[in-house]
Amino acid sequence: MANVFDEGKAILAEIEAASPATPEEVEQFRIRFLGSKNIVKPLMGKMRDIPGDQKKDFGLLIKEIKGAAEAKYEAAKVQAEAAAEEAAAANLDLTAPGEPIEVGARHPVSITMNRIIRIFERIGFTVAEEREVEDDWHNFTAMNTPEDHPARDMQDTYYLQDSTAMLLRTHTSSVQARVMTNTQPPIRIIAPGRVYRNETISARSHCQFHQVEGLYIDKGVSFADLKQTLYHFAREMFGPGIEIRLRPSYFPFTEPSAEMDVYLGTDTERTKRLTKGTGWLEILGCGMVDPNVLANCDIDPEIYTGFAFGMGIERTALQNFDIGDIRLLFENDIRFLKQFTAAI
Ligand code: PHE
Repeated sequence: MANVFDEGKAILAEIEAASPATPEEVEQFRIRFLGSKNIVKPLMGKMRDIPGDQKKDFGLLIKEIKGAAEAKYEAAKVQAEAAAEEAAAANLDLTAPGEPIEVGARHPVSITMNRIIRIFERIGFTVAEEREVEDDWHNFTAMNTPEDHPARDMQDTYYLQDSTAMLLRTHTSSVQARVMTNTQPPIRIIAPGRVYRNETISARSHCQFHQVEGLYIDKGVSFADLKQTLYHFAREMFGPGIEIRLRPSYFPFTEPSAEMDVYLGTDTERTKRLTKGTGWLEILGCGMVDPNVLANCDIDPEIYTGFAFGMGIERTALQNFDIGDIRLLFENDIRFLKQFTAAI
């Protein structure tokens, strides 16, 4: 039986003497001593031939062999990995060209929104931003649209679960209410942001979109001021030759209310399609702030008057960049977004 013990001791000696250095040598070592067909296994098979009084010693020897193999393997592995890393670092070619850095692109909605904001900032409006999860009062009631008001149907609303008091704002007019309740006039703000309406998603409309809203309140603000301000905006946005028209309309929070169209003509297929053959494209809603709204927000309607306007960004973005489907704006597909790198 002595030869089985000798065999075991020979294996142990081999393990102790081994010094695997490269990842390949470490792997060879693992296969030989720890792999599924390692050289210790046949030895273990001989256990049954060993006399009872020697079985325990033999078991201990096997255990020692395994322990030694595992310890050596773990240590060698760590060393080999470190050595490989060091070698790679030493081989670093500092003159090699770098990985190209991908240049990001602004989103067409941001580009359009920033253009609009800049136009109004230049004439003294400042940006006001507010929450997207809003309470019913700021979104509707303060805006002269109390519960049961039929005008609530104009904006199909997402209410928060288990609550009719909290909602996703349906327009940035909620920012008007927040600013007016916090500040006394003169107020001259522009409120950009995301809004939500429960609408069927199609190429033309989405359940989330962006608006820019403007509000100007001071003593003696008139409809003429509103019209001139919007005319200035249209010229900056579409070019000095642009024609505008104001059509009477209805919003609960403004009186009188209007919608503004710009004249794009019907010269091209695109403008024909956009304007449904009329040449006129509707771009915003506006009006004189209803005295009820001022009073709701603790501004004295006997002293102050104001105007407000609001416009959607997506339609303008689609038109500016000749994009055929609003859904592309929300998919964040890199292949789509990349195309706008040049647009600032
Ligand atoms: N809040 C209106 C809408 O979302 C737009 C608007 C704003 C109209 C301000 C008039 C004044 O449709």
